[in-house]
Amino acid sequence: MDTDWMNEPPKPPVQLDTDKAHPARVYDYFLDGKTNYPADREAAEAMIERGLPTARRDARASRDFMVRAAGYMVDQGVRQFLDIGTGIPTSPNLHEVVQERAPESRVVYTDNDPIVLAHSRALHTSTPEGRTLYLHADATDPDTILRAEGLRDTLDFSRPVGLTLLLLLHWLPTDAGVRLVRTLVDELAPGSHVVMSYLARDLFEDVGEAKKLEGTFVEGSTNQLRGATRAEVETLFEGLEMVEPGLVPTNRWRPQTVPVQVGNPALADSGVVPAWSGIGVKR
Ligand SMILES: C[S@@+](CC[C@H](N)C(=O)[O-])C[C@H]1O[C@@H](n2cnc3c(N)ncnc32)[C@H](O)[C@@H]1O
Repeated sequence: MDTDWMNEPPKPPVQLDTDKAHPARVYDYFLDGKTNYPADREAAEAMIERGLPTARRDARASRDFMVRAAGYMVDQGVRQFLDIGTGIPTSPNLHEVVQERAPESRVVYTDNDPIVLAHSRALHTSTPEGRTLYLHADATDPDTILRAEGLRDTLDFSRPVGLTLLLLLHWLPTDAGVRLVRTLVDELAPGSHVVMSYLARDLFEDVGEAKKLEGTFVEGSTNQLRGATRAEVETLFEGLEMVEPGLVPTNRWRPQTVPVQVGNPALADSGVVPAWSGIGVKR
């Protein structure tokens, strides 16, 4: 596998704005990646200290959920995927997971962090039978994503798509998140699957603890952070048929299907990862 990108310095003319913490780089720090800066590490450590001591475990559990959800969709016959808020490439990436089982799979990735763009070469390592595309785009402007050059050459919207919105929506203003989901889901063909995970306000001891965590990140960062309750996340799945076991903490979504090479089955029993996670199907 091509792993050169892991140590590759970002190329100009990308403006990285390294003085402020960015969600993608903070998450990369939690995953023990190398693509983060002092502001990101400081914000990440503050989050660990002030409300999320399990951040590293939770980030890893989230990647494992992506692997299980992707495997599930491949089993359902889905062969094309649209991932919004991709993050800094972390192996295995979505296309690696789905193409291992269905090499003809096509994956479009999108993110708005210039550092993800700078490292996006790692997202272009498609199988010859399949295809991948990276789009630098802002999730608060879903129409631009839908009109982006290359999107419809890569994905056929008359056929089912696996839409993945993982640990993304809590970074967006709530109404922008709702608009994003509604706009994209409207565009999808029957049989499409929508995978979401969302920081869970109601899985903290009390809402004050969740607010402290949200506030910790917002100081000196580019993004806001606001979790949602289970009821709020459920409204995003309205009109979709939930796949069993429904909307659950990340590590409780079909933990028995954790792939051996990636997963850490111990996570399934190690408390609750505070993010609501689930898959809905458009019928
Ligand atoms: C916590 S990371 C999650 C990465 C990946 N989805 C995963 O679950 O492993 C959140 C990602 O959302 C991206 N993001 C935040 N706001 C965004 C926006 N307005 N448009 C596009 N991407 C955004 C960040 O840049 C970051 O890469």
